[in-house]
Amino acid sequence: MKLHPYRTDNCPAFILLSLDFGHKLQNSAYSSAQNELILIYYYFRLHMHSSKKEIVLSKQAIQDRVSELGLDITRDYQNKELVVIGVLKGAFIFMADLTRAIDLPVSTDFIQVSSYGGSSSSGKITLVSSPSQSIEDRHVLLVEDIIDTGLTMQWLAQHFSDQGAASVKICSLIDKSERREHEVKIDYSGFSISEGFLIGYGLDYDERYRNLSAIYHLTL
Ligand code: IMP
Ligand code: MG
Repeated sequence: MKLHPYRTDNCPAFILLSLDFGHKLQNSAYSSAQNELILIYYYFRLHMHSSKKEIVLSKQAIQDRVSELGLDITRDYQNKELVVIGVLKGAFIFMADLTRAIDLPVSTDFIQVSSYGGSSSSGKITLVSSPSQSIEDRHVLLVEDIIDTGLTMQWLAQHFSDQGAASVKICSLIDKSERREHEVKIDYSGFSISEGFLIGYGLDYDERYRNLSAIYHLTL
């Protein structure tokens, strides 16, 4: 296997040292082993770091806005039995911060759905897991990370109405309007962002990046 010079760009020192040593032992097993090492390194570099992320919402901006949403919700649900239902998986971090910003005796639960062909109006929603408590005659606040086409949220709002909730309201950290196909009334919206694919603070790309504290625009 022939090594190309550009492959040594930014290569960690230990690999370069091993490369140098390997050249002195041409055709040896050692030389071929370090070639493999270099290939593995570049494979990971390509797949782990080739995408570009630009910050869109800082940790502080998110925290400030979540506090404001918590105050609004606290004001609006005085003397009402509130069940806050997070939409898995994306809402899990927002849900954790938001519920702690609500100064009321709330119940918390989760729901998970999956969508097939969800980027078009023909998309189908399937229930993966339901809340463990009855929501009949209770005030449901759905918590979502991002509303894109609106398909998921429109389905969920209808689902909880059908289950006999006293009211159903929607809180979404991000309202991404670019691809909206299904009308959704967002009662509590954190931020309006017109376009792009976002990651961090619960939002994923292929199950990665959910643990970032800020929100970024990802370009692949
Ligand atoms: P909708 O049904 O098209 O509104 O899609 C909502 C779901 O798609 C969200 O709950 C996310 O899981 C996912 N989604 C939409 N846009 C993004 C994004 O920019 N980043 C990460 N996930 C997204
Ligand atoms: Mg989601």
